[in-house]
Amino acid sequence: MAKILFQPDNITHDCEDGSALIDICEEVDVSLSFGCTEGTCGVCELTVLDGWENLSKVTDEEKEYLYEEDIANGMRLGCQIKIRRAHTVITWKGVRAK
Ligand code: FES
Repeated sequence: MAKILFQPDNITHDCEDGSALIDICEEVDVSLSFGCTEGTCGVCELTVLDGWENLSKVTDEEKEYLYEEDIANGMRLGCQIKIRRAHTVITWKGVRAK
């Protein structure tokens, strides 16, 4: 069982290992937005504050859309992420991390 904290909404959610973040966001009422759902629009940009190693690997779509430096600073595209295990904390654009 994995756990994710959506920091801007202060919501923690338990999920099965390997769950897609976009599916979790449909289940839980969080303020993270999605657009294309295919890794090409950037609407779902987010920053991983903790637990980077617990997420699925950066996809080719993310490598194409995001700058290498942004990825190095924890940025991901939410529509591309699966929660593999343990505890992860994310935040997103326009909302300052506490
Ligand atoms: S929803 Fe478009 S990149 Fe994720």
